[in-house]
Amino acid sequence: MIQVAILGCGTVGSGVYEVLSMNHDSIAGKAEDTLEVKYILDRKDFSGTPLAGKVVRDFSIIENDPDVAIVCETMGGVDPAFDYSARALKKGKHVVTSNKELVATHGAELLELARQNNVNYLFEASVGGGIPILRPMMQCLSANEVSEVCGILNGTTNYILTRMIRAGLSFEDALKEAQQKGYAEANPAADVEGHDAARKTCILASLVLGKHVYPDAVAVEGITGISLDDVTFASSMDKVIKLLGRVVRQEGKVFAFVSPHLIDKSHPLAGVEDVFNAILVDGNAVGQVMFYGAGAGKLPTASAVVADVIDCARHLHLNRFAGWQDSKENLITPAGEFVCSYYVRFAAADAAAVTAALAPCQTVECPQAPAGQAALVTEPLSGADMAEKLAALGGKALSCIRIL
Ligand code: HSE
Repeated sequence: MIQVAILGCGTVGSGVYEVLSMNHDSIAGKAEDTLEVKYILDRKDFSGTPLAGKVVRDFSIIENDPDVAIVCETMGGVDPAFDYSARALKKGKHVVTSNKELVATHGAELLELARQNNVNYLFEASVGGGIPILRPMMQCLSANEVSEVCGILNGTTNYILTRMIRAGLSFEDALKEAQQKGYAEANPAADVEGHDAARKTCILASLVLGKHVYPDAVAVEGITGISLDDVTFASSMDKVIKLLGRVVRQEGKVFAFVSPHLIDKSHPLAGVEDVFNAILVDGNAVGQVMFYGAGAGKLPTASAVVADVIDCARHLHLNRFAGWQDSKENLITPAGEFVCSYYVRFAAADAAAVTAALAPCQTVECPQAPAGQAALVTEPLSGADMAEKLAALGGKALSCIRIL
């Protein structure tokens, strides 16, 4: 029997317990041993539930129990998750997690600790929830030079944008709806300002480069500035607006950033709606492959966590995941050097000034244009050049969005 501890019995942690119980026998077959949850670390009161006998409040009980071979860290956040994960690895316990914030900020350190202690630190659930993406990138696609990873990495923002596009809701109303349905956090800043997607982009970039990419290297722009007027102009161009996390090579440089984009309605990512996530990987041998599914939620996320638990159980005495290494080098080029075309919206009264400043550009033909509004599309130019032109326009550009 292999004993497991779950740190944090919230949505994901309770899902891990449920999946381990629900699929107990088939999991035992795949793990080649039975998996039993010995401890659940949580501050909540579980008295009267079947979990009561397993609940502990002191991590050192788990840390010092040599029978616990695998720890599932489903607490989220950095503190105390980092401390507990590091202590578990130092005691020779495998650690699996769904915690993207921790992996994005301390992944290299925890991977190194896992190597030193001949155990594994696995985090498939940290990007795309239940979607298999990290292991496919590390294993199935490892023969490729990856030129781009481009994903819809946050379910909450994808839900909000979908409701704006499909139902004509304002950003504020769509956010309220997402909160009522339990998708968005009570404080949804990490979602709508793009930080959650940026952490996942760090993890994808680290995998592509084999070196840790820290959050401060990833430029972030969320969706709080997107309005229904932008949705209308985008639609007249046969495009939709999506928040994308991108890791992309351009002219020998590597960029990693999160921002809203206009994408063609025929693009594979355009059809990814509601809370779903998808990640498109472009490899020089395989071409484009796309991974699609539930990017969040109790059982989908637990599905990925438990798969990592099974992997650890099958390789109890083997560090088999190289992951990536720490790096002091700055491997990511600032997003200001990334070249692309932009969509710009402005008051029709300012058309002469805006088109002159952004020339050469093309006016967007939009029969449903909101009263007194106009839009254009620029030729490809760098983010820094664009920022300079926008500054010179002194607020005349009402919105500016990258085009994929
Ligand atoms: N808040 C995240 C989302 C949860 O909406 O995608 C999954 O990481």
